[in-house]
Amino acid sequence: MNVKMQYVNVYKYYRNTKVLNKFNLEIYDGEFLVILGPSGTGKTTLLRVTAGIEDLTAGKILMEGRDISKNPPNKRDIAMVFQNYALYPNMTAFQNIAFPLKMAKKSKGEIKRKVEEIAETLKIAEVLQKNVTLLSGGQKQRVALARALVRDPKIFLLDEPLSNLDARVRVVARSELKKIQKELGHTFVYVTHDQSEAGSLADRVAVLRNGGIEQIGTYEELLNEPKSTWVGDFIGDYPMNFTSGEYVGRSGTIIGFRDSWVNMDSDTLTGTVQLCTLGEDTYHVQCRLGNAAVAEGGFSLDDIDESEMTQPTNNFVKSSVSIRVSEKYNIGARIKFGLSKYNVYDSNGNLIETVKN
Ligand SMILES: Nc1ncnc2c1ncn2[C@@H]1O[C@H](COP(=O)(O)OP(=O)(O)OP(=O)(O)O)[C@@H](O)[C@H]1O
Ligand SMILES: [Mg+2]
Repeated sequence: MNVKMQYVNVYKYYRNTKVLNKFNLEIYDGEFLVILGPSGTGKTTLLRVTAGIEDLTAGKILMEGRDISKNPPNKRDIAMVFQNYALYPNMTAFQNIAFPLKMAKKSKGEIKRKVEEIAETLKIAEVLQKNVTLLSGGQKQRVALARALVRDPKIFLLDEPLSNLDARVRVVARSELKKIQKELGHTFVYVTHDQSEAGSLADRVAVLRNGGIEQIGTYEELLNEPKSTWVGDFIGDYPMNFTSGEYVGRSGTIIGFRDSWVNMDSDTLTGTVQLCTLGEDTYHVQCRLGNAAVAEGGFSLDDIDESEMTQPTNNFVKSSVSIRVSEKYNIGARIKFGLSKYNVYDSNGNLIETVKN
């Protein structure tokens, strides 16, 4: 795979805020790369330094092997869709979308054809002649997207480009976007908060944390084998379940597992059904890892201390898990279950191993 763009030891500090801190990443040609991360982790900043709207504090950005870090924005051949649209307010939607083509001195006929084609795809054909200030947030967002997509730059940077569309329009726009990207072989760096979007669009997902990449891989990889409890907690519709205790004689370990890995037919683990906290099918199961040495491949539980049950200590609460089970259990019932798969983390939350039964 050819590397399209590369970040080499990139730093971006604002006074005391270290937004990017020795950031390194390679983006492949034709890749759909999604950037995920909590609010304020520097996703927008990453796109802004890439587009050249902000200077780097240190480091280099290479495009097709050439250092572009010092180039002004218009010499980078990058199209960006901004989080806040950044449309030209006294122009119509048509004029906004046509703007980059006009700058590139395309013929009137070609401009009209391209603008109408992309407007059709993004379902904004009927508002092309309106001034953009009169459009809804979702329409503005699609105009901004269209204005980027009529170009053929080396790379596209998209900052939550579908966030203002209602759910149905978003799903359609999403699949259109993916189609355009793959058909034209575009390279996308795409920021989103929407994990289902990340899951359906991304070739790879990069999770941003503390100024660097915490983990990069397919969405499935992040979901199933998060390198840290932090990623396990962050990725997925629901956080991964964590329970701490002793594992194979090693104290202070953390076991992480997804609900779908819980096997109710097995009896390696014992728990007590507690409050129903997360919706109809969700029962809070408290369990605790035993201190006994664990047999190969599996682990066993000590019985639950009944006194702790009625007056849970902080410690105990920490080692509780929430499992979404389809069967209905009465609160207080003792249940047995096993795990088809689990991840073992050290006390710092770093993955030691993934175990499959
Ligand atoms: N111009 C600026 N001056 C000073 N600090 C800034 C500036 N721009 C951003 N920051 C800070 O840098 C950090 C990263 O901001 P950024 O906008 O990149 O986050 P983000 O990941 O895009 O967040 P969100 O998901 O909310 O859009 C934040 O702490 C923010 O306050
Ligand atoms: Mg942002």
